[in-house]
Amino acid sequence: MQVLKNACLGISSRCPPLRNGLLRILPPPEHFFPDEAQWDREYATGGWEWLKSDDERVHNYHIAAYCTRYGPDAAILDVGCGEGVLHDLLARDGYREYVGIDLSPTAIERMAWRSDSRTHFLVANAETLALEAQFDIVVLNEVMYYFRDPMAALTRLRALVPAGVFIISMADVGFRATLRIQRIWQDIGASMPMLDGMSLRYATGLQRTIRIFGVPGSTWAMR
Ligand SMILES: C[S@@+](CC[C@H](N)C(=O)[O-])C[C@H]1O[C@@H](n2cnc3c(N)ncnc32)[C@H](O)[C@@H]1O
Repeated sequence: MQVLKNACLGISSRCPPLRNGLLRILPPPEHFFPDEAQWDREYATGGWEWLKSDDERVHNYHIAAYCTRYGPDAAILDVGCGEGVLHDLLARDGYREYVGIDLSPTAIERMAWRSDSRTHFLVANAETLALEAQFDIVVLNEVMYYFRDPMAALTRLRALVPAGVFIISMADVGFRATLRIQRIWQDIGASMPMLDGMSLRYATGLQRTIRIFGVPGSTWAMR
């Protein structure tokens, strides 16, 4: 069965009409979209401790390295920052400003001690976010597939990063989720040029893909 699913995912990645057809038959189930209370419960009961594992740190190291490459002195918005694994790995002098937002008050409270004049953690929903600030880099690290309307969220976030880049990571986490993730990558790629990217495959088989996109009109996008 798994072999069949993998074959199907391989074909669907090269054949968007097939994938879109499958997505119509198999729309994302409700449990793909935890609400704020559920995220908070899961953080409170240690359900996301594994995000601090060595594998996750390796993954976050790559994202931190991309942050340095695309903005050594950047203003960074980390959307769905969780308990700050990425922030841990950003060099202390590696950013001009860092704002981490997350739906979970528990995760954000745990980060409060790290706040300073250029480091802020806020409880906020990226799908309804209203911020005045502007950023050079927006990181969406394992969060986009939890948005009900990922492209609407991305459009909203684009207003906050008029001249910079998006660093986006998503995992391959099962048949239905991967179909949806393939579609999200396709939609993002149709709206912004991809500048760079890489995939990591852990010994456990889990795969993470990181891609960098330049906001249209920015100097990044014109290179
Ligand atoms: C899988 S965790 C990833 C956390 C962190 N980026 C990391 O990789 O360690 C997804 C995070 O996204 C947050 N999240 C989900 N939907 C969100 C939304 N609409 N706005 C802000 N954060 C959200 C969750 O609370 C959770 O902390």
